[in-house]
Amino acid sequence: MNIRQATTADFETVTGWLAAARLPVADLSIDDMQHFLLAEADHVPVGTIGLEPFDGIGLLRSLVVVPHSQGGGAGRRLVAALERQAVTHGMRELWLLTTDADAYFTQLGYEAVRRENAPESIQQTTEFAKLCPADAIVMCKRL
Ligand SMILES: CC(C)(COP(=O)(O)OP(=O)(O)OC[C@H]1O[C@@H](n2cnc3c(N)ncnc32)[C@H](O)[C@@H]1OP(=O)(O)O)[C@@H](O)C(=O)NCCC(=O)NCCS
Repeated sequence: MNIRQATTADFETVTGWLAAARLPVADLSIDDMQHFLLAEADHVPVGTIGLEPFDGIGLLRSLVVVPHSQGGGAGRRLVAALERQAVTHGMRELWLLTTDADAYFTQLGYEAVRRENAPESIQQTTEFAKLCPADAIVMCKRL
């Protein structure tokens, strides 16, 4: 398993995976690939994760692993790699929204937070404001 930076050439693959997993894609552009990582198994892309950076914090988003590769640790490695990248960029917290993977993120050290306690920058993301249902769980991890 290898984790690498995504490139603009990965945009169609990434958005295809996200759409298939019913995760938000409408607010993504090809330029956002600079903030995405890709997991590869035997040089074949099997999963992705994205970061929306703000001042000192970030939104972890778009975590998906293709069905035939799930359960092999790709998701965990993608999260760990994104956390390392966030630390490198001086971020002290990562935030995320999820409708059904809260138990997964709890195992990785994320804690549920009341929506209204999320920082303003996170509340103003498209994912927070529009793309996720109002009952999506907001989670945070201090890095
Ligand atoms: C969530 C997801 C990224 C995990 O990736 P993965 O590579 O399969 O995960 P890992 O191999 O790191 O971890 C596997 C473990 O997580 C558990 N797990 C996977 N999805 C889970 C979920 N939604 N809730 C709770 N646990 C989950 C598995 O049961 C497994 O447990 P085990 O180690 O005790 O057997 C993947 O299942 C996926 O793409 N799901 C669809 C998209 C999605 O829900 N993304 C999250 C959006 S916020």
